[in-house]
Amino acid sequence: MIIAVDGPTASGKGTIAKALAAHFGLPHLDTGLLYRAVGRQVFLDGGDPDDAGDALAATAFPDTLLGDPALRDEQTGGLASRVSVHPAVRQALFDRQRSFATRDTGAVLDGRDIGTVIAPEAQAKLFVTASVEARAQRRFLEMRERGAGVNLLEIQDDLRRRDERDRNRAVAPLVPAPDAMVIDTSDLDKDEAVAAAIEAVEQAIG
Ligand code: DC
Repeated sequence: MIIAVDGPTASGKGTIAKALAAHFGLPHLDTGLLYRAVGRQVFLDGGDPDDAGDALAATAFPDTLLGDPALRDEQTGGLASRVSVHPAVRQALFDRQRSFATRDTGAVLDGRDIGTVIAPEAQAKLFVTASVEARAQRRFLEMRERGAGVNLLEIQDDLRRRDERDRNRAVAPLVPAPDAMVIDTSDLDKDEAVAAAIEAVEQAIG
């Protein structure tokens, strides 16, 4: 069984994907981490994330980079969004995601284009979303907890910019698959969101 979980930044899709993997006993791949690694590698190389050649070269990042906590920061998230517009970058990361999705064990993958491009045959597709305000508020609390100096309005602006770029890129834009179940987590806490996701998957797989 393949479970595809797509949605924008800070929608709760990562939390939901992890919980689904634990609930159904499936391995989980956070595909955003691959794009973040490319963004981080471009930065380390002193390259330009908007240059297709520089971004493609960075897809040869070493596996050890995937364990780097810097991948989770906002700056790297922005770089990831920029490198992810290049078709050659998406192509270079395709096989890795595809082979994870088609493992004998089944899998849960979360990202932007899992249900549309990476695993269109997934038995269960969720599109997890939430208002910009709700997502910014979560990101704000998360960052404050980590002791980062943060500004709620700046976070909102940043999320809006990234949403724009992710939704409007020519290749594999962020859109729900026609057969995806949409879960809006704006007014749900973590447990409620996870329960809604489990119910949706159970419905989808009958
Ligand atoms: O989910 P995230 O915030 O870690 O993703 C970071 C960026 O990577 C996101 O802004 C767009 C890109 N991305 C993508 O284009 N396709 C995916 N399957 C996952 C992430």
